[in-house]
Order: sequence, then structure tokens, then C-alpha cells
Amino acid sequence: MIILGVNETSHDASVSLIKDGEILFAGHAERYSKEKNDWYVNDSLVKDALSYGSPDAIAYYEKPLLKASRLFLKGGAGDWRPRFNLPGVPRKSFSHHYSHACAGYYTSKFTDAVIVVLDAIGEYNTSTIWVGEGEKIKMVHQDNYPFSFGLFYSAFTKFLGLMPNQEEYIMMGMAAYGNPDRYFDQVNEYFPKYNKQKYNFHTGITDFDWGYVPCFAGQEGTGYIGQWFEQRKFDLAAAVQKVYEKRLIEYMRYAKVITRKSNLVFMGGCALNSKANTSLWDIFKDVWIMPNPGDAGSSLGAAAALYGKHLEWKTPYLGYDMGGDYPVQQIVDSILKDGIVAVASGRAEYGPRALGNRSILADPRDPNIKDKVNLIKQRELFRPFAPVVMEECASKWFDMDFASPYMQYTVKCLKPDLIPSVVHEDGTSRVQTVNRDQHRGLWRVLNKFYLQTGVPILLNTSLNIKGQPLLNDHQDAIDWQAHYGYNILTGNNSLVG
Ligand SMILES: [Fe+2]
Repeated sequence: MIILGVNETSHDASVSLIKDGEILFAGHAERYSKEKNDWYVNDSLVKDALSYGSPDAIAYYEKPLLKASRLFLKGGAGDWRPRFNLPGVPRKSFSHHYSHACAGYYTSKFTDAVIVVLDAIGEYNTSTIWVGEGEKIKMVHQDNYPFSFGLFYSAFTKFLGLMPNQEEYIMMGMAAYGNPDRYFDQVNEYFPKYNKQKYNFHTGITDFDWGYVPCFAGQEGTGYIGQWFEQRKFDLAAAVQKVYEKRLIEYMRYAKVITRKSNLVFMGGCALNSKANTSLWDIFKDVWIMPNPGDAGSSLGAAAALYGKHLEWKTPYLGYDMGGDYPVQQIVDSILKDGIVAVASGRAEYGPRALGNRSILADPRDPNIKDKVNLIKQRELFRPFAPVVMEECASKWFDMDFASPYMQYTVKCLKPDLIPSVVHEDGTSRVQTVNRDQHRGLWRVLNKFYLQTGVPILLNTSLNIKGQPLLNDHQDAIDWQAHYGYNILTGNNSLVG
């Protein structure tokens, strides 16, 4: 049976196609329409997905009427009725948090786990705990709006002049530059210790005004760039991150106590907070975060919910296929010669992070390379870059005893002086580990670079034009080259580069 999963009622629309347990395709709408956080699927995306098979059923993400009632009663962002339809194909809808839970559990290797879903808001749910046993998933605890880890974080994101629901990761990066103690008490009081009966958390209850932060009432959030380096913003970001981590640990411990499970599946937009995620390894024996844990991953979650069984999770490279052989030697030669190289080859990553197929790779030893890459990408200069490392060498360079194939955890760098361009202000790095099975081409690039330099690590960041989604297809590669004047290696000789 072939199932098409569709998410187009929340930001970052996507579709996924599964055939029995196999994932044939999964891609984001924005990469085809070039409209960041596109809410609706488009013809090019659907055509690409359907080239892998014709669906027998459609699984929609979110319960339309429940969502409509929440939008009516409580407000908030989002549409409630998907536009996409295929005449004659039966369809079924699955709730927001259940889809998240299915996307996580059914792509995991676990048959016994607790599943925690934390985001801004689903239909009403904001925080849910589930138990996965065999092929069954059952909810054991739920919290609803206004209690919300995601809205807490987004409220401060907006307060700092950033875009809520999109630029939370920038605030997370800012946290390393701040003193968390300056505003800790105020923020800690605003998001108090979890207590179902006494909870008084709110973010502007009736209108979802995410910029309204009661503990800072009277102080308006300032502009986006104008006073960007004001230290108090970094101090506030640090306090928010610290409180978030504290509450996350409390909630995860609670989830463990009520379920007595030692394996964790963590899903929802909050699972993108790589700094906080690292602490989960202190609580659970094993952790799985699907590489697309936010709403964009839930087209796969809805499809998995209809299938109702584990999927064969093999790879995150599930999107548009540019073809080409991974240009291993060309990449290594270019980095050794120029320090930086752009790569677009094979299938696009399903998830927000570039993992080698739509990436800019650079020499992490050069302390000036960070500024050069930031200049190409026109990003704020304080923003950190992530390292990609051969899995077998990871524990020698970073304080970690687990694999991190999808850049989901930040860990202390053990040799910051040798790779200064991939170490953040606080001495940590958001590590991507690679082994031969996961991405043979990228592993070979690292191995060759290692043999030449003694460093099994490269800087890896997403290949996109500022303000636009990750590069997707050949035309994007041509546009990128025209825009920046840099070649892109595609591994396809008849093409650009
Ligand atoms: Fe969500």
C-alpha cells in the first residue's frame, strides 16, 4: 500500500510517500516554491513525490475541525483545512501531536520507549507524553495551551526582535554570549516549575501575541539589526535558554517516572534545541530524534500513523534528486586549495539541516574561515558553524560517547585551538558524525582530508541564498553561482561546476 502524507496546515508544508515500510520520498514545499516556510504544497513538489508511485490513500496532518475550533476560540497562527486533494483517493486525518509521535517512534529502532512531544501548539496540545510498545502508541499524559515550552521560547524570540517560529535557533546561538544570571530570576518566575494545578504561564492568552512577555512588561522588543549587539539581549537569551533547559530536564524526568522507560523518542519543534538536547543522554539510556522533528516532519508522521507500523529508516536524503556521483576528490582538492567549497549532489535532505548534499564545506583549522563563510551567507558574524566529523574519531575531538548523525547535539570541543572555526563562544560544537553507511561520499571526503591534514573534520553549513530555503535543484545551483560567483560541485559533469 502506498500512502501520501501531507502537511499544509502549519508553517513549512511538506509531503512524504511511503510504500509499506519503505520511505520513497519526503520533501519540503519551500524548496520547490522558493518561499521560505511555505504553508502549502505546490505542483512541482507533488509531481516529484508522485514520480515514486501513485498513492492508495492520503494521510493528513492535523484534525481540521479541532484546529478550526482552537483558531476560533483561542486564536493563533495556522490554517485548518488542507487545500491539497487527489480526487478518488481516500483520506484520513491524524492529530498534530499524534503525527509527531508516529514520525518519531515509527522511524526509531525502539519497540519500547517513551515518546515526548514538545512544540508551540498542536490543535490544543502543547506537550504530550506517549508510550510506544511494539507497534502500539498510547498517550499517557497531555498538557494544553497556555502551558507551552514552544510558546515560551518563541515569546522571547519575538521579544528580541527575531522571527518567532523561525529564528529560535538564532536566540539559542546568542545564549552563549550572555550572562544567564542577569535575568534568570525574572524568566524563571515567568516559566515556573511544572505544576498542573497551579500553572500560571501565559503568553498573551487571547491573541497569541508572542512579543508580549509579562515579566518584561513596559520594555518593548527592539529592532532586528539596529541595536543587535546590545549585551542585555544576549543576557536575556542566555537566561531563557537556561530556564528552558531546566524545565526540559524536569519534564523529561517526569516522563521517565510515569512510564518507567529508558529509551526516549523526542519530537516537536523543541527537539531542534541542540544545546538542551545533550542533557537527555544523562536521563535516558538511548535517545532518538527524527532529523525533521518539527511540523515539516509530520507529513511522514501522518503517513506512518495510517500505516501503523515501524518504517525502515535508512537515510534523511529523501528529497529532490540532482543525481551525480558525490565529487569526493574535487571537494578535497578545492578545500585544500581555497578553504571553502559548495556542494549540491544527490537527494536533498529531509529536515532543516544540510548534511552534506546541499552544503558549504570549509577548512575548520583556519580561524578566518568562519568570517568568510558568514560573509558569503550574509549572516550575523556571531553565528556559529557546525563541524562534520568521522564517527570513529568523534570522541577524540569532542566530549561525546554517542553518534550524532543529524547535528542534534552540542558537546564540548576537546581541541578548540586546532579547529577554531567550528567552536562556539562557550567552547561547544553542534556535531554531525558520519560513518561509511550513512554517507559514503562524505565519509571519504573526511577521510582524505584527514590523511592530508591529520584533522578528520570539516565545517558544514547549509547551501542557500540568504533568506531563501536550502538549494534544491539544478536551476538553484545556477542561480547561486550567478548570485555569489562561486562554483558549485555537483558531481555531474554536464552541469554547473
Ligand atoms: Fe508541532
